[in-house]
Amino acid sequence: MPLMRNARSFFAPLAIGAPDPVRAIPVTPSRMIHFFDPSNEKLRGKVPDMARSADILLGNLEDAVAADKKEAARAGLVEVGRTADLGGTPLWTRINALESPWALDDLVTLVTEIGDVLDVVMVPKVEGAEDIHYVDRLLAQLEARAGLSRPVLVHAILETAQGVANVEEIANASPRMQGISLGPADLAASRRMKTTRVGGGHPGYRVLADPGDERPSYQQDLWHYTVGRMVDACAAAGIFPYYGPFGDIKDEAGCEAQFRAAYLMGCVGAWSLHPVQIGIAKRVFSPDVEEVRFARRVLEAIPDGSGVHMLDGKMQDDATYKQARVLVDLAELLAK
Ligand code: GLV
Ligand code: MG
Repeated sequence: MPLMRNARSFFAPLAIGAPDPVRAIPVTPSRMIHFFDPSNEKLRGKVPDMARSADILLGNLEDAVAADKKEAARAGLVEVGRTADLGGTPLWTRINALESPWALDDLVTLVTEIGDVLDVVMVPKVEGAEDIHYVDRLLAQLEARAGLSRPVLVHAILETAQGVANVEEIANASPRMQGISLGPADLAASRRMKTTRVGGGHPGYRVLADPGDERPSYQQDLWHYTVGRMVDACAAAGIFPYYGPFGDIKDEAGCEAQFRAAYLMGCVGAWSLHPVQIGIAKRVFSPDVEEVRFARRVLEAIPDGSGVHMLDGKMQDDATYKQARVLVDLAELLAK
């Protein structure tokens, strides 16, 4: 079982000899990864403001950046890394896909020029451990060349059927692995799903009650299976799962519902594509005050974490103690 394999301060140290993925939480808030296009000069000017409100800031070089803007985006991110006041907010990038003509230059330029302020490289369309191994070795060379004293971490996007099939080996492919995000838009295409959306649900995806049964039918979560697989793979590897993007910026209720389903299933955060989604992610990925209050009562009722106790008529034992710890640890992290 990997323990504190990840070398950067992004991670809470776990006690040696006490493997417990339940306790593996980011040491800084990680409720949303806020995307911006570094080729856009106006947005570059807003980076300090974005860094003040977002938990993580990501300069996107891949999809949504047109082919003729790729170099401007890379150069814009170098400028941000060199000059912007991020106030301690982690800076990530999403590089282009490994088979694209830009990925190699993305890595060489960014690690050489701003490797000292670049925390995590997000790699799209990861299909298996070999993709992570390639990035891992390249990063090691570039870090040595740049004389960096801390490693750049790696985050994989799960957005092909092949990637989903190999999610466990991806999660365990390198000590640099920070986490995995679901990429529902590319994954939908890879699976030949019949949607035209970036994440979220679909009104047609529902299971009806029997004829004559008047109970309402509800839309089902298209991403339940993949989020479940991803969360298990990440928890087993001691890294962090994130729901990815929600493309309908105006549908705040839909975004909140999708983020909340992911939060409850174990994701630590989601992507934000617009400032309004930063607020949604903060709300959703911060534990509910009443639930934290109850969780604290569970911890107080079972000080050594063992045995059976009744609280408001509900049975508490070693397992509910561990669940309560998850909520209280997260609340304490966010209160810092
Ligand atoms: C994200 O990259 C997605 O494809 O959903
Ligand atoms: Mg994608």
